[in-house]
Amino acid sequence: MGENQTKKIFFVASEAQPFFASGGLGDVIGSLPKRILKNSKGNFEVSVILPLYAKLNQAYKNKLIYVGQTITNLSWRKQYCGIFKYEENGVKYYFIDNEYYFKRDNFYGYFDDAERFAFFSKAAIDVMLFLNEIPDIIHVHDWQAGMLPIYLRTLYYHDERFAKVKTIFTIHNIEYQGIYSFDQDIIEDVFGLSMNDGYLLEYLGKVNIMKGAMESANFVTTVSPTYAEEILQKDFAHGLEHETLRVKKEGKLKGILNGIDKVFYNPAKDKALFENYDKKHFEVKSKNKEELQDMLNLPVDKDIPMIGMVTRLVAHKGLDFVKEIIEELLNQKIQFVILGTGDPYYEGYFKDLEYRHKNKLRVIIAFNQDLSRKIYASSDIFLMPSKSEPCGLSQMIASRYGAIPVVRETGGLKDSISDFSTNNGNGYTFNGYDSHEMLNTILRALKDYQDKELWDKQVETVMNKDFGWSTSAKQYVKMYEEILEK
Ligand code: GLC
Repeated sequence: MGENQTKKIFFVASEAQPFFASGGLGDVIGSLPKRILKNSKGNFEVSVILPLYAKLNQAYKNKLIYVGQTITNLSWRKQYCGIFKYEENGVKYYFIDNEYYFKRDNFYGYFDDAERFAFFSKAAIDVMLFLNEIPDIIHVHDWQAGMLPIYLRTLYYHDERFAKVKTIFTIHNIEYQGIYSFDQDIIEDVFGLSMNDGYLLEYLGKVNIMKGAMESANFVTTVSPTYAEEILQKDFAHGLEHETLRVKKEGKLKGILNGIDKVFYNPAKDKALFENYDKKHFEVKSKNKEELQDMLNLPVDKDIPMIGMVTRLVAHKGLDFVKEIIEELLNQKIQFVILGTGDPYYEGYFKDLEYRHKNKLRVIIAFNQDLSRKIYASSDIFLMPSKSEPCGLSQMIASRYGAIPVVRETGGLKDSISDFSTNNGNGYTFNGYDSHEMLNTILRALKDYQDKELWDKQVETVMNKDFGWSTSAKQYVKMYEEILEK
């Protein structure tokens, strides 16, 4: 890369902390850009393009600055595209305003999501044109931004301004691909593409936006090295294995482990906690435990080990295992706190179970940042038995808050947590997709909990593990530099 020449990177994604988030994607987009900026030593300028959802955190609503407006053409539609800006830590955030698409109660799950996010991806290109800032790299995340590289390969293919732009597509979870039935209506009428370009999106007889993005982007990444290997296999790829194998063969697939924002998640300063603590004073955790027990109407006793789970209540998070052994587990002297929303089946099942185990189990059906932090701070053990896990951030946050992770060895869980029985162990792990293996691992942790000296030593080890972005941000910077040299 040429010396002293600042390169421009634009991130495009559908959520980012602290503005709005529904999961781990929001955490990553909220923290990675500033860390890339920091690590690039002045070589990169970093901007992020996001939708302006009605759900924008109130604290930021008044801080946005109006930049201007343009029109985004989506097939025959001419849609308003307002542009707002906010700058923090040197990163510029641009918000695309269109109330018809984004003034809704939720982020996703609407009949017209294909149109909403095709609009978002196309409008992101219009924002770059409006600002007259054509980046060197456009880094898009998940299928919601996946139409962008497809548009560059089709509608903008002959546009000189984008001739040198490199695109990167990051898969945060291969399970969500943006699949629709393949017909002229969606290709031409919704996306505004020609049927001749339909092959880019076509996969197994359907429109598949993730597949189109993988094919169109110059490079594809995912959020842990192990997951980058796993998604080559049928069991993990959710039907996309031909495509993942193809990009791997072309040498354009890489896994980089996520980090967490150590400022955003810091038990010493976290306002959500009953009492703050750091790794030298983690005995304060038991104060948090007692307050949480009181708040949740559980018996108050600092010596009862508390197991926490903060998770989406969906099958791939390993909930079928939990279901198989939970009654057995609840025979132990423990308290178990579960926070999450998701599949109505699991929501109903765990609520019903709580009713039968009032003194031991609390199930809170919500997505609640404040409560999640209280759970991380109060738990002794944090359970994450995922069937598959692209990266997972909760095990990292739990570690920072001194809750020892019990995880299944898959994806990013495998890359971040190793068993205490190995060198440099920082948790309890099990391998098989087997509920009794999980139960035995939890029992092993509960047994160690009885040995206070050992447990304290382990909490210290876990809290000392650095899950910040330093290593991974360097890997991203290196990847950008390599791609720009190509
Ligand atoms: C998705 C994945 C999760 C990952 C997150 C951020 O939510 O399911 O494993 O940590 O994206 O990349």
